Amino acid sequence: MDTPMKQLINESVLIIGAGIMGAGITQVAAQSGHLVYLFDQKEGAAEKALESIKKTFTTLVSKAKVTEQQALDTLSRIHIITSLEQASQVNLVVEAILEKLDIKRQLFSSLEKIVSPSCVLATNTSSISVTAIANGLSYPERLVGMHFFNPVPLMKLVEVVSGLQTSPDVAQAIYDLSLHWGKTPVHAKSTPGFIVNRIARPFYAEGLAMFQEQMADIVVIDACIKSAGFKMGPFELMDLIGNDTNFAVTSSVYEAFFFDSRFRPSIVQKEHVDGGLFGRKSGRGFYDYSVQAINSSLPAFDASQLNLQDPIVLHGQGSIISLWSEKLVQLNIPFTQKNQSDWIGLEVGINQLRQTQGNTASSYGPHVALFDQILSTPNVHYLAWSISDQASTSWQTQAPSWLAHLGYVPLRVKDMPGLIVARTIAMLINEAADTVNQGVCTKEASNQAMRLGVNYPAGPFEWLNTWPSASVIKILDGLDHHYKGERYRTSPLLRQLNC
Ligand code: NAI
Repeated sequence: MDTPMKQLINESVLIIGAGIMGAGITQVAAQSGHLVYLFDQKEGAAEKALESIKKTFTTLVSKAKVTEQQALDTLSRIHIITSLEQASQVNLVVEAILEKLDIKRQLFSSLEKIVSPSCVLATNTSSISVTAIANGLSYPERLVGMHFFNPVPLMKLVEVVSGLQTSPDVAQAIYDLSLHWGKTPVHAKSTPGFIVNRIARPFYAEGLAMFQEQMADIVVIDACIKSAGFKMGPFELMDLIGNDTNFAVTSSVYEAFFFDSRFRPSIVQKEHVDGGLFGRKSGRGFYDYSVQAINSSLPAFDASQLNLQDPIVLHGQGSIISLWSEKLVQLNIPFTQKNQSDWIGLEVGINQLRQTQGNTASSYGPHVALFDQILSTPNVHYLAWSISDQASTSWQTQAPSWLAHLGYVPLRVKDMPGLIVARTIAMLINEAADTVNQGVCTKEASNQAMRLGVNYPAGPFEWLNTWPSASVIKILDGLDHHYKGERYRTSPLLRQLNC
């Protein structure tokens, strides 16, 4: 485009596609004061979208979130059109049609014959390359990704995605417009999954791998992940998203990365998809929603009496050790401390209860039990633990009793490296590091994207504030050693952060 980029905040907007996303974008644009033209090729689709927007406003008025006048004004700005030519004067188009490359390309190329050369063309694609959609356009520099999240009026994040030919001015104009619409935009380079759909992959993949290898049951994995601050565990979330949708996204990212094993889809999930076990929408996924009490009962646990004949030593330092020393004082249990130790945990005579460092408990010999990473010290309830194959029967009952006395509900899992939380979060951090290392987005953008796009309790680089990169690398190295493949390779950026 020859003309310098204009601000888009006073422009009328054409929204194409009146499905779930198009309707949401229409609402947000009209609420922000734009004159909005809405087009859908399917008869009655735009009218249906407008009806649902009207219903939303009736609710908003009844809850006094907007006044009746504001609702009327907003709705009066929305105009359904039956041919694209009726909106030829707009300076912004937002496309939210079918997720098919050839159909999107066709639409944009016919639009170029209708709108002026300075009109910005935005696509809400969630998985197609923005560079590929622009291929064949007369002015490819004006095409940009404007990736909203569902439900659009509620979700704050917008990924502003630049393809190889997108003009930086166009991307900035969409960024500024998103701010005006009350959103939190982040810039991203067009690469598979953009930011959120890429960095989030291990959240599902590691849960599925642990389950497939019978390390733990889904209820145990979900409980531990929720104790780490996530709103839902991976299996609950896959069931909510729909296993079919989630599997399709994973498969498309895997293919787009030329079958990098890090993104490999799971046969366990495919089996659910093939069997029609999509999740909540089909009544059954990983969980069965047809029964009243969802089958999510955790294994029962009774803490036995602590054997206090052996000397107790707290090892290492940091928030867990501070908390545990307070607990021991409260419990009237005498102990000593070794602050300089290279591991965190508790020594009871010859036995040790150590926080995972990426090795199996068995690799330390017969006296070791491991517990999972604790990231939000006071809030953790369920805590995964494992124990050496050769541990004595008494240590097998004493180790979880210690965890119970220290305030956790211990959940035993098979002795595999990284347990549940450390393994999942280390992989999320690693993927974020690779995403930043490859220039897809900044660290700050990845933090915002994961907090706002998928409600993570912290951004990936924020976890590094309390969990040193050296410890994260140890978890990844432990997994890499155990599985001997490409999947757990450490991002060069993470190693660099550790220098
Ligand atoms: P949808 O199926 O609810 O709506 C698509 C609408 O586009 C339909 O009403 C259809 O009649 C219309 N349409 C299809 N081809 C058309 C054409 N050539 N011209 C005009 N209208 C056409 O789909 P949804 O979920 O709203 O998704 C739309 C886009 O947004 C897709 O690219 C999708 O990947 C993306 N997206 C979807 C998200 C979601 O959670 N559903 C999240 C973020 C992005």
